[in-house]
Amino acid sequence: MPEALDPWANSQAIDTRRLFEEFGIEPIEPLIDLLPEVPPFVRRGIVVGQRDYEPIATAIRDHRPFHVLTGFMPSGRPHLGHLLVMREVVWHVRQGGHGMIAIADREAHAVRGTTWDDCERYGRDYLAALYALGFTGEVYFQSRNNALKDLAFEAATRVNFSALTAIYGFAPETTLAHAMSVITQVADILYPQVSGEPAPTVVPVGLDQDPHIRLTRDVANALRFFRVENRGDHVSVRTRNAPDGALQAVAHALPGSKAYQGHVDIRGVPHPVVEEVVRGIERELGGFGFFLPSATYHTFMPGLSGGKMSSSIPDSSFGFREPPAAVRKKVMRALTGGRTTLEEQRLLGGEPDPCTVYELNRFHLCEDDGELAKIRARCIAGEITCGACKKETADRVETFLADLRERMDAVEHIANEA
Ligand code: TRP
Ligand code: SF4
Repeated sequence: MPEALDPWANSQAIDTRRLFEEFGIEPIEPLIDLLPEVPPFVRRGIVVGQRDYEPIATAIRDHRPFHVLTGFMPSGRPHLGHLLVMREVVWHVRQGGHGMIAIADREAHAVRGTTWDDCERYGRDYLAALYALGFTGEVYFQSRNNALKDLAFEAATRVNFSALTAIYGFAPETTLAHAMSVITQVADILYPQVSGEPAPTVVPVGLDQDPHIRLTRDVANALRFFRVENRGDHVSVRTRNAPDGALQAVAHALPGSKAYQGHVDIRGVPHPVVEEVVRGIERELGGFGFFLPSATYHTFMPGLSGGKMSSSIPDSSFGFREPPAAVRKKVMRALTGGRTTLEEQRLLGGEPDPCTVYELNRFHLCEDDGELAKIRARCIAGEITCGACKKETADRVETFLADLRERMDAVEHIANEA
């Protein structure tokens, strides 16, 4: 990331470069000029990558429709590790996106063995947290959404077991329900374009979730009737699974078309216009007309105890409804970038980059960039002890959680309607 964009650079940003090269994820930085407002998670180098985000950025800029979607697996209670994605979704909704949340109860039941009752309870807690953070839009539980299940079945016609093995390392022991939960996730990502109108759709995910995005893009592509390609001096429209007469309908609708066996070439009509017309015809003929889904990719906040943040390591994170005293204890015990003695700390200063307490502030607690810069500066200059810094941070966490809980309680009845 360039210095100007990312004054609080984290060492994690280095590793992401390899991921970009390997998987074709693009940096988000070149697109930020399109955005009317740069969100903190981009400014601070937390969201670093994107796939096909330009249609989303221009939709935001031009006030055109787009969807923002994510899913949560209700195998446990929502915690600190879920906060970033929730905020990304809420930000995109505020920028004009149509919001959609999937509660992946089928996945939790299939992959983690969570009982349906627990799925229900945890799922509602995720929704309460989302509403409390300002989410508006549609929500559903996978197990109760028949249109989603139909879409998953349709998507399943385009995915075979060798693809699942290649992408997810599925083995002969993998249960069929696990495979079904994968295809249900594909359906989740395409669902906003089926329940509503086709439009660019952004899925904010962690860097490790890219396989789902690529699979879904492949499926969306395979379910399209037509392939539209910009060939410079003309636009080519090819049929893939289109019904008889579909290609003629395209040629008929676009002046300047020349029809060939299996494709139509169009001159003098801009590529986006051809896309729109073709999509309309596809929809009229009973097709999906999908836009390939887009994604943003974020880096991960380390666990408070160092290492990975995970609900299976209780000290690495805290739940939104965990008792304040327990949360405070975790923050006070968190791994810092402090020196071994106070003397050294005063002399050399602390190291904010590997410090989980600093990361907590950078990710979530310090909305004001100036205030975050101050925390960083005081740390580096050795002007504050880690004890005092942790105490300040624990106070911020406490205030944040008290407010969040109050809001969650206030919206609980809406969450319970899903
Ligand atoms: N599989 C995701 C997880 O493990 C949850 C999920 C379900 C999801 N459907 C989704 C994420 C759609 C993004 C988009 O947490
Ligand atoms: Fe982390 Fe604060 Fe200690 Fe710096 S002073 S290492 S930011 S806890």
